[in-house]
Amino acid sequence: MKTVAIIGSQWGDEGKGKVTDYYSKDVDLVVRYQGGNNAGHTIVIDGEKFKLHIIPSGILRGGKKAVIGNGLVVDPKVLIDEIEGLQKRGISTDDLLLSDRAHIIMPYHKKMDEVEERLKGVYGAGTTRKGIGPCYSDKIARFGIRVVDLYNKGVFKKKLENIVPIKNKILQALGEDIEYGVEDIYEEYIRYADVLEPHVVDTSVLLHEALSDGKKIMFEGAQGTHLDIDHGVYPYGTSSNTVAGGCSPGTGIGPKAMDEIIGIVKAYTSRVGTGPFPTELHDDVGEAIREKGGEYGTTTGRPRRCGWLDLVMVRYSARINTFTGLAITKMDVLDIVDEIKVCTHYELDGEEVYHFPADIERLGEYEPIYRTFESWDEQDWTSVAKKGYDALPAKAKEYLEFIEQNVNVPIKMVSVGPGREQTIVR
Ligand code: GDP
Ligand code: IMO
Ligand code: MG
Repeated sequence: MKTVAIIGSQWGDEGKGKVTDYYSKDVDLVVRYQGGNNAGHTIVIDGEKFKLHIIPSGILRGGKKAVIGNGLVVDPKVLIDEIEGLQKRGISTDDLLLSDRAHIIMPYHKKMDEVEERLKGVYGAGTTRKGIGPCYSDKIARFGIRVVDLYNKGVFKKKLENIVPIKNKILQALGEDIEYGVEDIYEEYIRYADVLEPHVVDTSVLLHEALSDGKKIMFEGAQGTHLDIDHGVYPYGTSSNTVAGGCSPGTGIGPKAMDEIIGIVKAYTSRVGTGPFPTELHDDVGEAIREKGGEYGTTTGRPRRCGWLDLVMVRYSARINTFTGLAITKMDVLDIVDEIKVCTHYELDGEEVYHFPADIERLGEYEPIYRTFESWDEQDWTSVAKKGYDALPAKAKEYLEFIEQNVNVPIKMVSVGPGREQTIVR
């Protein structure tokens, strides 16, 4: 195995931080390929909590290169704050690398994110307001500013002179009392550029060299398959290709370099943001899962909507990503309920539906059809993890093996707590 990608199979927050951190012990580079600081990945090491928004989790292992690929949109201030935050906690950021082709989030992107959400009304996704969508819009429209532009001051200034008056006009026409100044933005961003300069390289060259030297690479997904711009719940998802296929354009390695693709499946479903959610729980059970699972946004602090595991969603993700293995997370949380439901398919107008539909606006009309499992008693999960898969309660194994058979992808890891030691590799 030369490369492994860790991909969320639901709506994000499946535990990608925890799982990438665990697997990263065996790789040389950890690479992010899409998204920005809309992500919030939590890693717990010896009881100490780290929340990463833009820096790949490999930074915490030491001695691994942590690569921010060209497919990301980077808010330089947030990146600098995150670097400084890690340094203060004694974590070296010397091995952090930033692609010279990544796009830069500008102040007007963050403003536009707010304004667009307001204008979209019921079609707003409930974004993180980090400027992600507007920055990707400018990238596709070829209005974007890339990392490399910051180091060619003449070009940077010229691009700002071109774009800033346009953004001002658009925002003012939309009723905003705002006027961005070219000089202000130029000065601010040149300062960021100076700080970031030691990290900036052509990361595609670096990744190719690493692969030819026999090094191992992990791709750390952000968000989840059902937030993908093409394959997710459009328009309620995010603005990048979160799926495994996104690793190639997002880092500049060819698709043939992909070996292992691990889908992370939270043992139930959560969603932060708007849009239909077929298995959502609006009762005490949903509330109990939210509390036990600590389901509050890592980036925005918003309470996450919680519901039962939806295998229609997971099978879809297995297909779109070609999962070679599954990592099931947060099994420990389900000991709070007496019975567990899992959605195997939907019903609409008397018809059974096994494939996730494209018509998101009608998704609310699909009735989830459940299979019910008994839950298990509360466990000392750390000691269960120490003993391995066979030490899991029989009822937990029954649940896991049902998921495995239904999705038709082998389970390779089971997570029973946030810590590194609460991990079972099968
Ligand atoms: P990500 O965005 O996919 O990296 O996930 P988040 O970090 O946003 O949210 C997952 C939360 O669950 C974090 O607080 C993790 O520390 C925590 N977590 C991860 N795996 C487990 C697990 O197996 N059990 C429990 N109880 N918590 C977990
Ligand atoms: P991680 O990597 C959960 C959601 C937002 C919103 C939609 C679009 O921690 O799993 P955006 O700001 O990206 O334009 O918002 O996507 N969203 C996430 N939900 N986890 C995330 O990241 C998310 N990143 C974005 O809530 O509905
Ligand atoms: Mg998260």
